[in-house]
Amino acid sequence: MKAAVLYSTVPRTGTAPQKPSYTDARPLVVQELDGPEPRAGELGVAITYSSLCHSDLSVVDGSRVRPLPMALGHEAVGRVVSVGAGVSDVSVGDHVVLVFVPSCGDCRACRSGRPALCHRAAEVNGSGDLLHGEALLRTPSGERINHHLGVSAFADYAVVARESVVVIDDDVPDTVGAMFGCAVLTGMGAVLNTAVVTAGQSVAVFGLGAVGLSAVMAASLTGAGSVIAIDPNPGKHQLALDCGATAVGTPDDAARLIKEAAGDGVDVAIEAVGSPGVIAACLGHVTRGGAVVSVGLPHPSAELTVPALQFAGAGKRLLGSYMGDAVPGRDIPLYLGYWREGRLPVELLHTDTRPLTEINEGLDALASGQVVRRLFQA
Ligand SMILES: NC(=O)c1ccc[n+]([C@@H]2O[C@H](COP(=O)([O-])OP(=O)(O)OC[C@H]3O[C@@H](n4cnc5c(N)ncnc54)[C@H](O)[C@@H]3O)[C@@H](O)[C@H]2O)c1
Ligand SMILES: [Zn+2]
Ligand SMILES: [Zn+2]
Repeated sequence: MKAAVLYSTVPRTGTAPQKPSYTDARPLVVQELDGPEPRAGELGVAITYSSLCHSDLSVVDGSRVRPLPMALGHEAVGRVVSVGAGVSDVSVGDHVVLVFVPSCGDCRACRSGRPALCHRAAEVNGSGDLLHGEALLRTPSGERINHHLGVSAFADYAVVARESVVVIDDDVPDTVGAMFGCAVLTGMGAVLNTAVVTAGQSVAVFGLGAVGLSAVMAASLTGAGSVIAIDPNPGKHQLALDCGATAVGTPDDAARLIKEAAGDGVDVAIEAVGSPGVIAACLGHVTRGGAVVSVGLPHPSAELTVPALQFAGAGKRLLGSYMGDAVPGRDIPLYLGYWREGRLPVELLHTDTRPLTEINEGLDALASGQVVRRLFQA
């Protein structure tokens, strides 16, 4: 099998997106690995398309600390090619979306109906193992390669836990299905599950990558009265309007646009950047009783300093949202239903498709904001 393996991180210096450097540094090595067979509870999946998310870039630049070497990639679609012992509800040939939290079904979070926060999944995702056993990936010389979030999708094949897939209808185009496992699940869920936006509310979305744009689509879908989409990259603004935003602008425009649309603040602000400064700004942009949803993943050393009185004094809430607080087996079919009805234009998130050998160029394209979602074929 073929996979893209990260052996060492390449930190981005400075804070602004840097000029192309991954193209030169080539941190991801596309190489042959021994293709493992699925064990009990696992599946072998032929990956059709994988998709590059900012969280992959954050592993490469060291902001998401993961054990290396690791075969990266966590957003993908494929077909089941082999089924391990004990799996009775998935068959060879099934069309599957891969999801990055393989929920165990039995921990405190799973038992309380919040599988995206599964304790066991957090443990194995952190160690680079799989839900049903130790990491399986090996180089031909026998070196262990860690799995990324139970998926390792920048590859032509993956062995994953049964719990890492959701079976979808055969006719869903792979270029659409590929983005449901992370971007769509995360952005939609932040609005529908975490904030529980209702018709008529005002919503501001900060950060118009695929995650933020999915939040824009969700807010529009629920009938939010205004959807204000903010990104310093003007190249993202038309796309946000196409996704259903009612106003777009840069961070400098945010206060004015929010005042025009929602008076003293929006009901809900979604932070899909990963910046403490933007989280703090969002708290300032919500009205009394409003909620900020923190979706972006800041560097682990980053700290948030905000006026403390606004919580009790103005009833503001700061809510974390991992994988959109999703129940993937419930939410992916639900969102695909919206897509079928023409209410969720997920195609807009797909910028282009490239061979997996160009994955390093893809890191530069994402870092510089040239692409929303670039899909890869091994
Ligand atoms: N919580 C989760 O489960 C989860 C899942 C997936 C991704 N993420 C995180 O969500 C974030 C977004 O992911 P993505 O793949 O959409 O990223 P992306 O790089 O495609 O998009 C981020 C966008 O933020 C914009 N931005 C930068 N500074 C900004 C500012 N000050 N104000 C407003 N916008 C600003 C950039 O121009 C860019 O368009 C990342 O931090 C990623 O790691 C979280
Ligand atoms: Zn992701
Ligand atoms: Zn669990």
